[in-house]
Amino acid sequence: MTTTTAFDIRRIGGRIGAEILGVDLSTGLGPAVVTEINSALLEHKALVFRDQQLDDAGQLRFASLFGDLTTAHPTVPSVDGQPHVLPVDGDDGIRANQWHTDVTFVRTPPKASTLRSIVVPPYGGDTLIANAAAAYRDLPGPLRELADTLWAVHTNDYDYAAPKSEKAAEYRRRFVSRKYRTAHPVVRVHPETGERGLFIGGFAQSIVGLGSSDSRDLLRIFQSYVTRPENIVRVAWRPGDLVLFDNRITQHYAPDDYGDLPRLLHRVTVAGDVPAGVDGTLSHVVEGDDASHYTPAAA
Ligand code: SIN
Repeated sequence: MTTTTAFDIRRIGGRIGAEILGVDLSTGLGPAVVTEINSALLEHKALVFRDQQLDDAGQLRFASLFGDLTTAHPTVPSVDGQPHVLPVDGDDGIRANQWHTDVTFVRTPPKASTLRSIVVPPYGGDTLIANAAAAYRDLPGPLRELADTLWAVHTNDYDYAAPKSEKAAEYRRRFVSRKYRTAHPVVRVHPETGERGLFIGGFAQSIVGLGSSDSRDLLRIFQSYVTRPENIVRVAWRPGDLVLFDNRITQHYAPDDYGDLPRLLHRVTVAGDVPAGVDGTLSHVVEGDDASHYTPAAA
């Protein structure tokens, strides 16, 4: 266990993830504590705060400590009366059982995401979070050099598997009700640490300049390094937990393994900047608007 002045940090994975002990997120956190939490986030990439029992206001207050908030989502409706809070409700067919980084189909995806557990199933319903920087470091040299030069087009509108229920179909229709396509570097340089990470995930559908078959094969190879068990931490939720993860250098996946049991999380995301590749070139919109209704960073 590493001790800091304000709280304790207990690592929960070999390469990603830590529990933060001894912080009550419902109290006003001073700037020094926020700086320490941010440093822990940069190092561990996913932080778990157990048994916080925040409400929406508390989650919004905590997330705001790290920057301006996005609205709930570019296309999916928010919680009633809470424009910055996205419901992640298994009953509504929202099952994020695909590896992804949040909202990479826009030019300025969120910097960080907070997930707060409200209802959790007695078993299953965990969230897996992967370290995309460790994945980059794991690549053999020639693959790393190739990845450094590549760009991928991310979109919210691609050939999803057939939805399993009418609710899931309705959710999918809303999800793609505006179409976005954005080109991001396959290797993103983290704006705070300079660390390089694979910036791909489920919304990355093609590699710029390649056909669909080569794109699919290359993305599959790179993605296989992200999802190596070594690079993953698995968070088993209890009601009232809050998880904060760095969306610039992680991917996550929520196994759909809880059948009809209820599961409800609320998500609040912190606005991010425009990703930059290893040569400093910035992401650009290929199709769709600049998502200024979603993120203040679009301006
Ligand atoms: C999400 O992708 O934001 C939801 C993750 C989860 O359901 O655990």
